[in-house]
Amino acid sequence: MQDGSFPDRVSLGVFPTPLCALPAISARYGRNIWMKRDDLCGVALGGNKVRKLQYLLAQAKSQGCDTVFTTGGAQSNHAMLTAACASRLGMQCILLLKQRGVTELRGNLVLDALYGAQVRLIDTDRYEDIYDEMDRLSKELAARGHRAYSIPVGGSTPLGAIGYVDAVEELAEQCAAQHVPVGHIVSATGSGGTTAGLLLGAKRYLPGVKVTGMGVDDSPFAEIVPTLAKGAAEILGWQFERTADDFEMIYHVGQGYAVPNAEDTPFLEELARTEGILLDPVYTGKAWAGMLKRVQSGGFSDRGDIVFVHTGGAAALFAMDLPRA
Ligand SMILES: Cc1ncc(COP(=O)(O)O)c(C=O)c1O
Repeated sequence: MQDGSFPDRVSLGVFPTPLCALPAISARYGRNIWMKRDDLCGVALGGNKVRKLQYLLAQAKSQGCDTVFTTGGAQSNHAMLTAACASRLGMQCILLLKQRGVTELRGNLVLDALYGAQVRLIDTDRYEDIYDEMDRLSKELAARGHRAYSIPVGGSTPLGAIGYVDAVEELAEQCAAQHVPVGHIVSATGSGGTTAGLLLGAKRYLPGVKVTGMGVDDSPFAEIVPTLAKGAAEILGWQFERTADDFEMIYHVGQGYAVPNAEDTPFLEELARTEGILLDPVYTGKAWAGMLKRVQSGGFSDRGDIVFVHTGGAAALFAMDLPRA
């Protein structure tokens, strides 16, 4: 149970999400590998952003906001889930998306429209330009009597990261109930908030467990993640002290962010065909393939079982092809 130091949270998803054994994969790779199924969290196609949005949209509501802005790439999972969650709360959602990647009406852009979001594609490579536009539109809306809440890319603020502190609390209870001797928690890192929450949560609820972020772009996550975790700890009134071996970043980017890797495709197919689970080629597929390659070369073997956090993203499968080597 959460103690009183947690900020307000609105209930949007179905939690706890299952912690599932992966018997076929574990047998193939000779290691016990589990999956925390946040892709099954009950909103749209699931995904990690729902836990963050439970805190961010609670704050938006408490500030009397009726409109939510956020941003990301054209196929942003975060933007799509923000649209889904905002509409459930009766809020207007405006997505200012970078006009980059797959911009046709496929994948998440189909779902954004289904959830009633206003989508504007902006021809820029810089989020600063998009935040300037958000400020301008917020003022315009304010002049018409509305109040807007702006969520930065990925919902990766210290407040949003607390969603993944919740996830580790859940996971600790499940590991105890299911007798899982967890040693490693692994997940995709795209803007840092999920990994930050996992790191802070592991310190509190699963001490000694190592958190590994699998970077899907080249941002300096080794600094971003602990900074976000520290910010989240400050909100909660907790101490945050790093130890030498509590967190690691491994990068598995390939040719670039949101460019699928041909060498990862067999790993996605293997999981689909053995366990029936879908991964996406931008986030979870890269993280999963990168993790299994490490396992094959003896990585993650210094402590207990591995828990891979499935952070969603399946809509990308309907926006892009899986390349082959
Ligand atoms: C499916 C999926 N997995 C993982 C991530 C990475 O999470 P974070 O942005 O918190 O690092 C994202 C981010 O957009 C995502 O969409």
